[in-house]
Amino acid sequence: MLWTIFLLLNGLFVLVLIWSSRSRQKNEPPLDKGPIPWLGHALTFRKDAAKFLAKMKTKHGDIFTLRVAGKYVTVLLDPDSYDAVLYDSVCLDNSQCKNQLLKRIFSLQLPNIKPTTERRWMEQHFQGLSLSRLSISMNTNLQNLLLNDWKGCSPTEWREEGLFSFCYSLLFRAGYLTFFERRNDATAVYKEFRKFDDLLAKLARCSLKRDERRTVMSTQERLWELLSSNWSSEESESNSWQQSYRQFLQEEGVDAEMQNRALLLQLWTTQCNAGPASFWLLGFLLTHPKAMEAVKSEIRGLTLQDSSLQHAPINPLEGLSTPVFDSVLSETLRLSAAVLISREVVQDKILRMANGQEYHLRRGDRVCLFPFLSPQMDQDIHEEPQMFKYDRFLNEDKTEKKIFYKDGKRLKHYTLPWGAGGNVCVGKEFAVTAIKQFVFLVLTHLDLEMCDREAKLPPVNPSRYGFGIVQPDGDLKVRYRLKKTQHEL
Ligand code: HEM
Repeated sequence: MLWTIFLLLNGLFVLVLIWSSRSRQKNEPPLDKGPIPWLGHALTFRKDAAKFLAKMKTKHGDIFTLRVAGKYVTVLLDPDSYDAVLYDSVCLDNSQCKNQLLKRIFSLQLPNIKPTTERRWMEQHFQGLSLSRLSISMNTNLQNLLLNDWKGCSPTEWREEGLFSFCYSLLFRAGYLTFFERRNDATAVYKEFRKFDDLLAKLARCSLKRDERRTVMSTQERLWELLSSNWSSEESESNSWQQSYRQFLQEEGVDAEMQNRALLLQLWTTQCNAGPASFWLLGFLLTHPKAMEAVKSEIRGLTLQDSSLQHAPINPLEGLSTPVFDSVLSETLRLSAAVLISREVVQDKILRMANGQEYHLRRGDRVCLFPFLSPQMDQDIHEEPQMFKYDRFLNEDKTEKKIFYKDGKRLKHYTLPWGAGGNVCVGKEFAVTAIKQFVFLVLTHLDLEMCDREAKLPPVNPSRYGFGIVQPDGDLKVRYRLKKTQHEL
């Protein structure tokens, strides 16, 4: 028996050695296999991707290949060369990375749905008339939740809450009511969802502890149940986004169980970013009085211009020019949007960089872009990149600033919160309008202030780098009450 174990371990060791024996070939990016056989850099990468990749960039430059849990990942950090990855659908494939995550996070398999068919469906349902309908419904839901939900306490009394919980809870519930058209279970769904979302990064990295795994499984079950119980015959008459999505899945031959799981995926995709983004935006305004005053002054101008805004909260903000707010939003997203864009190399590829250098990418490897590091936090593009500057994306004549340079060369991608290419965020317009509706509603209807005037924004939870808008480690205590005179800013 001992002899067999010894042989097995020996065999395993030889396999690890063979696996580790890859060396850098001519024309390949610098290779860094990391300190641990097979695992390579996995542990440091998972802990804080932003810090780790910044260190690797200093060591190797704009392109390098890392070993991460047995996989070779080429990281590209030159925004001028991103298009060579984003627009290549022949040698690079998005669906393998995506399917792996869907299985791991949502226990979901949709092998028969073509990514292009799904993308087309999404585009149809987030643009044109559908988009207007969704945005109007979102505005109504936000107003109802924010202004009518003062049961049991006087609206003129201060309420205390963490700003992150306040923003996430409101935007999530309003978004849920908009897409899933539910009446009475939004709070229950939100509570379960937060438990799931809190463990999502660990789930994606397969690093859950035993009790955390149990929590994830039970919240998943509960959410599948809550989302499926929405599907009653009475509602099958309605024309909700959820119903259309179910119909789409049915037509693609997806069974009822996978349909429920896909609903949880869509709940996460549509609701996980806007709440955290609104938290950072309001947090930056509260901690930067000059920026807050500039936004309020812009809103005052709007309410004076348009008398209808003095009665109904700005709705749905279409067609209103808000350059200051837009710059604040772009700056907030520059500092908080940290998605890791991954593609599988399905055919050997020669990657031509903007500086003319060519690199060979091997089939079976993965290639990743991390726009958060560059362009967003690149000091050669953005002066003092760690600082929040509300007018960074504003020209002196109050038009949008779109011209940025690196090494004297004008950049196409100077910030990339929404991704780009064939997988650019389809919900961008909806998300921008929802965040704007929410922030304008809060500033015009609530007195909102920090409980401690000297407080600072909490730091980022480093485990969230790579998963969209980052979340704070801790919260910012605020108090709020309804304004005595509405729209008095
Ligand atoms: C601040 C808010 C948001 C940010 C920063 C954001 C960012 C992104 C990014 C970077 C991607 C591309 C990921 C990749 O290439 O791997 C993406 C994809 C996507 N987003 Fe958003 N998103 C936001 C809100 C929303 C909302 C509100 C919706 C829906 C209502 C939405 C729907 C989608 C969908 C369906 C995709 C997948 C597109 C595809 O795979 O072709 N997003 N988002």
